[in-house]
Amino acid sequence: MPLARGLAAGVRRRGAFLPLVVLVLPLLLLLHLISSPRPRSPSAPLRGTGGEPQPACDYADGEWTRDASAGSELRYDQTCREIFKGWNCLANGKRNGRELLRWRWKPAGCELPRLDPLRFLELHKNSSIGFVGDSLNRNMFVSLVCMLKGASGEVRKWRPAGADRGFTFLRYNLTLAYHRTNLLVRYGRWSASPNGGPLESLGYKKGYRIDVDVPDQTWAEAPSFHDVLIFNTGHWWWAPSKFDPVQTPMLFFEKGRPIIPPLLPPAGLDLALKHMMIFVNKAMKPDGVKFFRTQSPRHFEGGDWNEGGSCQRDQPLSSEEVEGFFALENNGTNIEARLVNHHLMMALEKSTFKVLNITHMSEFRADAHPSTTGGKKHDDCMHWCLPGPTDTWNDLLAANLWQLRVSLTKGETFT
Ligand SMILES: *[C@@H]1O[C@H](CO)[C@@H](O)[C@H](O)[C@H]1NC(C)=O
Ligand SMILES: *[C@@H]1O[C@H](CO)[C@@H](O)[C@H](O)[C@H]1NC(C)=O
Ligand SMILES: *[C@@H]1O[C@H](CO)[C@@H](O)[C@H](O)[C@H]1NC(C)=O
Ligand SMILES: *[C@@H]1O[C@H](CO)[C@@H](O)[C@H](O)[C@H]1NC(C)=O
Repeated sequence: MPLARGLAAGVRRRGAFLPLVVLVLPLLLLLHLISSPRPRSPSAPLRGTGGEPQPACDYADGEWTRDASAGSELRYDQTCREIFKGWNCLANGKRNGRELLRWRWKPAGCELPRLDPLRFLELHKNSSIGFVGDSLNRNMFVSLVCMLKGASGEVRKWRPAGADRGFTFLRYNLTLAYHRTNLLVRYGRWSASPNGGPLESLGYKKGYRIDVDVPDQTWAEAPSFHDVLIFNTGHWWWAPSKFDPVQTPMLFFEKGRPIIPPLLPPAGLDLALKHMMIFVNKAMKPDGVKFFRTQSPRHFEGGDWNEGGSCQRDQPLSSEEVEGFFALENNGTNIEARLVNHHLMMALEKSTFKVLNITHMSEFRADAHPSTTGGKKHDDCMHWCLPGPTDTWNDLLAANLWQLRVSLTKGETFT
């Protein structure tokens, strides 16, 4: 696997191979002991025998189980200053702000370990992790910052490599940053030139120019700066209130020229993903690790966000309700979640990005949005309460980073 090879090369270069094995092997044994305490169900056969790196586990498939203890000891609370006001459900007195923390994600064939902040800081010291994407990735970034700050409060606030915000945990020299970008690619307002042009001759008067092959300035330097990147893009491609298909359509450009005939947004997304993955592959540090996060679902009921839709649930949805909300054939209000994923999967299939598949687990959590306490005129059924489900997304990130490290060590040991 090129990713592991890249990592291995990085480790060899730093001459840290032996200490890493000494450090990681006992932990690996420990992990094995923790993660397989009971017999596996027949539906989840034990893989990873015969010298494979580790028991494979699909963390993405499972269910939320009530776990009262999870809510009694908060991972962080409303005093974490990085929480954006509208997402601070505890401070804003959301009715179920605490109750929504009493659920634990239980994958079908294994356990998803809870991120241990001190261990995370130790494992990732002297490195840098960047989140690149829209406000949902900021939500995830804030969750990680707050969890780690609880373990090590000495931070320097700054903006690495053009980031919107970032922190270095001084004792560990670990940097976390958030790079804000809605579409990943550059865009700006466009209006018809009096001198005419291909778009003008088709009758376009104004819209947004979207350069599918140019990364947004906000993160163009991120791949050469960070060791780990977590990307997302999604709902902005399905945002007719901003990119109105008639009044202000998305107009796609490639190599600086308009694409003719003009593309609809889903085709524009495909092209943008293709180009951005090529860009990241070229620009990323040789031993860097790239994740793409799948789409975060919204939970508007009774109308879309601008039609009085709300999310007043006190409990996660059942599996049947989830399908009612999100199955493509139902064409519901929140349909873009699985549509976006369809496009992401096509782009990711042949790529070397790792996928953080948070969609399904999040589809259940209609109870965990700021709702009426988001401080907006309309309900916020899109972002997530903090603390909240994005803490679990970070558990998934930590588990994936750990697995990479383990498979790297094993690869070095046995090949
Ligand atoms: C994410 O996981 C769910 C549950 O296993 C699965 O149904 C879905 O196809 C996965 N999506 C992607 C984009 O991998
Ligand atoms: C961190 O990196 C610096 C510079 O590469 C190196 O001198 C130092 O030993 C590293 N510290 C740790 C704890 O790995
Ligand atoms: C801190 O970590 C960065 C990598 O993220 C490294 O370049 C730098 O040398 C480190 N600084 C120290 C003082 O170890
Ligand atoms: C889905 O619903 C939207 C609006 O609610 C409509 O414009 C679109 O045509 C529908 N698509 C299908 C395939 O039914």
